[in-house]
Formats: sequence, C-alpha cells, structure tokens
Amino acid sequence: MQTLVIAHRGASSLAPENTFAAFDRALDAGADGIEFDLQLTKDKVPVVIHDETLGRTTTGKGKVIDHSLADLESLDAGSWFAAEFAGEKIPTLDELFARYKKSSLLFNLELKNSVIEYPGLEKAVLKSITDHELEERVIISSFNHQSLVRCKKLNPDIRTGMLYFEEMETPWERALSLGCYSVHPFFHHLQSPELIAGFKKNKLPTYAWTVNDPEQMEYLVNNKIEAILTDYPQILAGIIRKSG
Ligand code: G3P
Ligand code: MG
Repeated sequence: MQTLVIAHRGASSLAPENTFAAFDRALDAGADGIEFDLQLTKDKVPVVIHDETLGRTTTGKGKVIDHSLADLESLDAGSWFAAEFAGEKIPTLDELFARYKKSSLLFNLELKNSVIEYPGLEKAVLKSITDHELEERVIISSFNHQSLVRCKKLNPDIRTGMLYFEEMETPWERALSLGCYSVHPFFHHLQSPELIAGFKKNKLPTYAWTVNDPEQMEYLVNNKIEAILTDYPQILAGIIRKSG
C-alpha cells in the first residue's frame, strides 16, 4: 500500500490556492488527488474558495453568499499570490470537474458549511458529482458532521470523510456512526500509535491534514497512513518515491 498524495487547496505552495493554476501544478507534481473547499453563491452555485469572504484571496469584498456567480466571475483570484497569476478565477465545482475528469485525480471536496450553513449545498454538490459521473472518485468531507449524514441520505453510495480538529478518544466510533468511509484528523493527533491502530482495526482510511514538514511526512508514510494532505505535493511525492 502506498500513501496517497493529496494536494491541499491544490499545490498551494506553488500557486494561488483553489485555482486551476494550483490544481494544474498538483497534477504536474504527481499528486494522486486534490483537496478543495466549497462555498455557495447567492444563486446557489458551489464555488471553490476557502473563506466565507472574498477579501483574502480575491479582488472582491464581502461574503460569497451575498454575490451571484456572475458577480464572482469578474474577480481576480490569483494576483494576491503573485503578479504572474493575475487573471486566475474562482472556479465553480462544475468547471473543476469538467477540467480534471479526464485525469485520474481523486477529488476530496470539503464542504465549508460550519460557519454559514448553506441550505442546499449538499444537494447542489451531489448533483454536480452525478452529472459528471464521478461518484467513485470523490470523498466529501466537512467539519459539519450532520451535513455528511445529509449527503449519505441523499446518496447512500457517496463516500464521506469525517473531518475533525479537536482530539477524540475513540473517533472511529463516531466516524462509523456517521456512516463515513474515511477519517480526516488534524495530523498532530496521529503521533499516537493507538489512534493509528484504532483506525486500521476499524478499516477507516486515514487522510491526515495538513502536513508540510518533511519529517512528519516521512513518519506518516512509514506508518502507512492512507493519504496525506499537503501544500507541498512536490516534496511528498519525492518522499514516497524514495520510500517505495
Ligand atoms: O480538509 C482538510 C483541511 O483542508 C481542513 O482545513 O482550513 O485548510 O480547509 P482548511
Ligand atoms: Mg480544506
């Protein structure tokens, strides 16, 4: 078994997060998959952006939910990172799928519905997945665990991943009760061999986030963690090649 390289927000050390530039670089770096964040527009279109607000990563202002897709299309989501990326856009989920479905990338969709609940987000996301026939290549994760339950109700075949930050004693029990396929713990928790063993015993693939330190990458690869989310897929891919 080889640990999967999942580019966190794309290769976000090399290009502006959650843009095609970052996802293209993830592919070039040999990533097995990409993780990206989804918010909802005023007209209920899932769009790929991390924050609830536009200010940090685009030329826009205010909340994503207060803007229609047409408003967002005029924004620049690249120049905050470096001038050479001016003109990068906020992708819609449909555009992302259309662009990368011919690759073999795995898609880890993170629903950003813990701060703003976004009624209708699950339904819109699941429609896009089935429209593109990508059911077998996606994992939907969220810190909002009830949202994962809603996804499973809407489509029992979809794989969900329990994303969490606060330490739990027996996280596998919660993940199994939510019907999750995988667990997505903050990587610091995985210093505990009991936790790694507990996930393995319960057959829950572990997607550790967000691991940017090469020593931590090596530790997790040596412990046969199923997947690592990193801003540096180019470094992790090298470590996995050497370990193989
Ligand atoms: O999916 C793991 C990770 O992306 C969660 O944190 O804030 O980077 O979306 P964040
Ligand atoms: Mg994320």
